[in-house]
Amino acid sequence: MNKEIVGIIGAGTMGGGIAQMFAENGFKTLLWDVNADFTNKGIEKIQKRLNKSVETGKLAKERAEDILSKINKATDLNEFNETDLVIEAIIEDYDVKVELYKKLEKIVGAETIIGSNTSSLSISDLSGNLNTPERFLGIHFFNPPTKLELVEVIATSSLSPQVSQKVNDILTRCGKSAVKVNDSPGFIVNRLLLPFINEAAKLLDSGVAKAEDIDTAMRLGTLHPAGPLQVADLIGLDICKDILEKLAESLQQENYKPAKSIVDLVKAGKLGRKTGEGFHVY
Ligand SMILES: NC(=O)c1ccc[n+]([C@@H]2O[C@H](COP(=O)([O-])OP(=O)(O)OC[C@H]3O[C@@H](n4cnc5c(N)ncnc54)[C@H](O)[C@@H]3O)[C@@H](O)[C@H]2O)c1
Repeated sequence: MNKEIVGIIGAGTMGGGIAQMFAENGFKTLLWDVNADFTNKGIEKIQKRLNKSVETGKLAKERAEDILSKINKATDLNEFNETDLVIEAIIEDYDVKVELYKKLEKIVGAETIIGSNTSSLSISDLSGNLNTPERFLGIHFFNPPTKLELVEVIATSSLSPQVSQKVNDILTRCGKSAVKVNDSPGFIVNRLLLPFINEAAKLLDSGVAKAEDIDTAMRLGTLHPAGPLQVADLIGLDICKDILEKLAESLQQENYKPAKSIVDLVKAGKLGRKTGEGFHVY
């Protein structure tokens, strides 16, 4: 990349984490959200995380300041004209994302790579809306992006191999392990993980075992670091339900439909760790 500027659109959970991760690895980043307050909040959260690392002795103060100095706030999308790579991490809404790409294509240079962090939308469908689909791909980070090593790199039939290689090189420089996936519902991780969680919830629903025993069985019997229902609580049961519904719809398979306990817990506002209760109480 010429000037090594990574633009991140959406300063929420993932966008803020992705910006921090790139800054930690020496890239100048530009962060923008639809509303200036949201951009500021995103930056404040990054600052809080860095301060906490300084307070606990995990990070030197100068290093934290250096990381923060690499995160720049954009006040207008037009400021993305000098970016080399843009990662979109806005709300999971097809039409909103497409509208953004159309604006972005008019602003960024011809060589700028555009990646989406979408978890459940088809990269090929999104790509079909761009004038230049050869520079568009899925770059799917995991939460938190500063800590989790895996990135799924999702290719469409239009993607240029050079673009794919460049993204792979950038991620390697950030210490990430990229896996290449051809566009398909749920990519690799969610396609395998969500049915696993769903089957665990169905075992619970049919009274085969208690939540704690299901998790213990999978931890101690298969060397999983956490049981499936614990993982579901960590992801958020609303997110699990949403991904399962999208998988059921796109794969046209009933068994992906969310289990009764997932639906009921979401209805009751028990979304997992983030609300203090899900399959387990925290
Ligand atoms: N949360 C996760 O664990 C996770 C993991 C991997 C991928 N993802 C994907 O990342 C994306 C973002 O998820 P999140 O959890 O960070 O969501 P979030 O709700 O925390 O953040 C989304 C942000 O996008 C902003 N936004 C909405 N419309 C916008 C627009 N038109 N332009 C600019 N900003 C806009 C919102 O104001 C918000 O700050 C989604 O596509 C999601 O599927 C999420």
